[in-house]
Amino acid sequence: MAMADLYSAALGTAAGAAIVLDEDLRVALVTGAAEDFIGGAVPRGVSAPAFFCGGRSKRPFAEALAAGRAVEATIPRPSDGKAMIRVRANPIVRDDVRVGWLLTLEGAGEANDDGAVLFHGMWTRDAKMKDLFRLLARAAAEDVTVLVRGETGAGKELVAQAVHDCSPRAKGPFRAINCAALPGNLLESELFGHAKGAFTGAVRDTLGHMQLAHRGTLFLDEVAELPLDLQAKLLRVLETRSVLPVGARDGVPVDVRIVSATHRALRREVEAGRFRADLMYRLRVIPIFLPALRERPGDIPLLVEKLVETMNKTNRRTISHVAESAMEALTRYPFPGNVRELKNILAYAYVVGDGARLELGHLPPEVAAVDSLAPSFAGEDAASFPDPESHDEKRIRAALVRTGGSREQAAKLLGLSRVTLWRRMRELGIAASRKRALK
Ligand SMILES: Nc1ncnc2c1ncn2[C@@H]1O[C@H](COP(=O)(O)OP(=O)(O)OP(=O)(O)O)[C@@H](O)[C@H]1O
Ligand SMILES: [Mg+2]
Repeated sequence: MAMADLYSAALGTAAGAAIVLDEDLRVALVTGAAEDFIGGAVPRGVSAPAFFCGGRSKRPFAEALAAGRAVEATIPRPSDGKAMIRVRANPIVRDDVRVGWLLTLEGAGEANDDGAVLFHGMWTRDAKMKDLFRLLARAAAEDVTVLVRGETGAGKELVAQAVHDCSPRAKGPFRAINCAALPGNLLESELFGHAKGAFTGAVRDTLGHMQLAHRGTLFLDEVAELPLDLQAKLLRVLETRSVLPVGARDGVPVDVRIVSATHRALRREVEAGRFRADLMYRLRVIPIFLPALRERPGDIPLLVEKLVETMNKTNRRTISHVAESAMEALTRYPFPGNVRELKNILAYAYVVGDGARLELGHLPPEVAAVDSLAPSFAGEDAASFPDPESHDEKRIRAALVRTGGSREQAAKLLGLSRVTLWRRMRELGIAASRKRALK
């Protein structure tokens, strides 16, 4: 074995997908895993910035390397530009002198056979979402404000965190504040801080999120709920790049990147006079529309698979298959609570069912029920869902009728364990005696 091959094999063992660059940023050593990852051979001696960043106009990664800074960046895969890869570059130093770089590549946006990508904790297989990830990576590199609009549970906070993590501010703080969670005066001092003596109980100078996020990112969740007077104050911060804590005399300079989120159409809030137009334009330099889960149905089976993988690790129960009927019900369900709701549904299934297969009967009744009610369902709100109790009761009674009252067989039919069926029957007041169950 040639020495270089031995070195790259050793490096592969130690660091996985890794590339060593010499001091001129030329590729010196590549592990097999790195080439697999990149999807092609990486020629030795080629300039890494050119190879990774090519002719793209924005090359923060290349620039950081050229400037000798350690850097972490998410960039499109050089071979096809489709998947995203995360590259981390650390200087190799000998006797206080940088002699090269070690690049490690990671699964942010790893391409699977089935086109699934992972971007900062977000799985998707959906083309629109992949476009969105590319836009996020590009927007993150600049210091522009980003406004994320999306339904509850769709991943707005993950998006905000991703913007921060991909940005040059990644090493700085990420602070999140929910503008809907606090009454106005509390929110004001949480956001902007307050001076000692500003109000009763203000016993010392206290920093607000604005200052705590200095050199980092501030995530303003539910920004549409910000009261008008605080909107004015926020606008002033953005315009003057300094913050005036409650009760303070002088402004304090702050360097903060704002990412905000809302489930509302901000434009409509502006029309209704509830939101300042000038602030809206300030906040939404890059507007991001996060599609609801039901608008990307291909992601449902993918997320089920990925979430089950993670939940298997922390649960008593291990699920290795999902019954077709259960998957069908899931893909038909409209998910008003999006990915968070899917997580909760799976958590329910882990508790309610047992065995290695996730059955239709392990799903919450409102999900299993979609089966027969599907077409008129999508887009309606949760209030119009059928009464889950009565649906569950009907299914159990029907199963008991079909099996002549045998609870053992009914349980099989429903995909429940005997114990679970018995528990549900008791909860629903379905009597254990055959006669009454049949009635
Ligand atoms: N694409 C995804 N892949 C994996 N997990 C996801 C994805 N999108 C969202 N999640 C998970 O779903 C949950 C909800 O996400 P998040 O908190 O970001 O939503 P949100 O839009 O901020 O919700 P809310 O409006 O209620 O604040 C989190 O547990 C998050 O990790
Ligand atoms: Mg949130």
